[in-house]
Amino acid sequence: MNATPMDLYPETAEAELIEEPTVDTTAMATETTLLNPRFYTTDFDEMDKLDVSSVRPEWDKLIAQMKSDPNKGHFKKNAEWDANWADMPLPLKREFIDFLVSSCTAEFSGCVLYKEMKRRGSNPDICELFSYMSRDEARHAGFINDALREAGVAVNLGFLTKAKKYTYFRPKFIYYATYLSEKIGYARYITIFRHLEAHPEQRFHPIFKWFREWCNDEFSHGEAFALIMRTDPKLTNSFANKLWIRFFLTAVYSTMYVRDHARPEFHKALGVDIEWYDQEVFKKTSAIARQVFPIEIDIDNKRWLPNLRRMRDAFIAMDAAKKRGGVSGYIGRMVAGAAALRGFVAIYTMPVIKTVPPANVRMEPVY
Ligand SMILES: [Fe+2]
Ligand SMILES: [Fe+2]
Repeated sequence: MNATPMDLYPETAEAELIEEPTVDTTAMATETTLLNPRFYTTDFDEMDKLDVSSVRPEWDKLIAQMKSDPNKGHFKKNAEWDANWADMPLPLKREFIDFLVSSCTAEFSGCVLYKEMKRRGSNPDICELFSYMSRDEARHAGFINDALREAGVAVNLGFLTKAKKYTYFRPKFIYYATYLSEKIGYARYITIFRHLEAHPEQRFHPIFKWFREWCNDEFSHGEAFALIMRTDPKLTNSFANKLWIRFFLTAVYSTMYVRDHARPEFHKALGVDIEWYDQEVFKKTSAIARQVFPIEIDIDNKRWLPNLRRMRDAFIAMDAAKKRGGVSGYIGRMVAGAAALRGFVAIYTMPVIKTVPPANVRMEPVY
């Protein structure tokens, strides 16, 4: 499990009264663990060879929309920005910072990958798309980092670019993983936004007011990857690739579940039951992903929630074992690792729901 701000703050209530130590958010963002957002690199030459002519009309429409830059003026603080870190209870502050650092890292990870694609490519369609997407992600990461700066804990993004480990993914894995992370990002932001629209008294920080327009950017980014996957039917229809899609669905969903459950105070402050929220996000993401994936995870299957919980418990046990160290810590980690794997396999092998993606791949954000 990743180092949460919990690990970096003293534990006692007395210490909270004396002083509030600073937390090294850059170190948190730099750390590579199974659950932390990663930085990716890929075969840029292969991606540069993408030919979008089979989806040309939809592609041009999407690019024109991105070019018009509907959120150009959106990511600026205004009178609506009423952040109050001073009155935030410390346990909430820790988890909220963890949430912001993790979101900022994920946004910046997209920025770095997209910018690199634009820099290395020569295909005008691909370069144009990736320049708009890196523009958006840079804005998103910068806006979150501004919010963190007010708490005195901004992430050093320049340092992160150099210090963070890069994970290599073949282009098709980038498509599956990035498509899903864009769409799940949309679903996460819009679900929180709609919840707080109904319960404004639980909006403990102004950044949530920016989520609606924000998530529309993520939605469009996901659309671009949906179109890219449509350029080659094998990517979503071959037997092996369907297994890969299933793998990525399982990995992305279960990571989200485990990570969200590490932030109980954050969700309590929002007035959100974590399991409800996660199921809501999975439901929306699965409904959207029907545009391109021929299979979806059956989140109503009776094996689904018990095995997510098993994975969550395993990661908590793994974290405790890591802290314990020594032989017992080592054994604890092995046992917890095996339990997490069992949970993962139990979900991966659940019967999937088969769907037929529509002829027209494009969708609009409707939530
Ligand atoms: Fe973003
Ligand atoms: Fe995005």
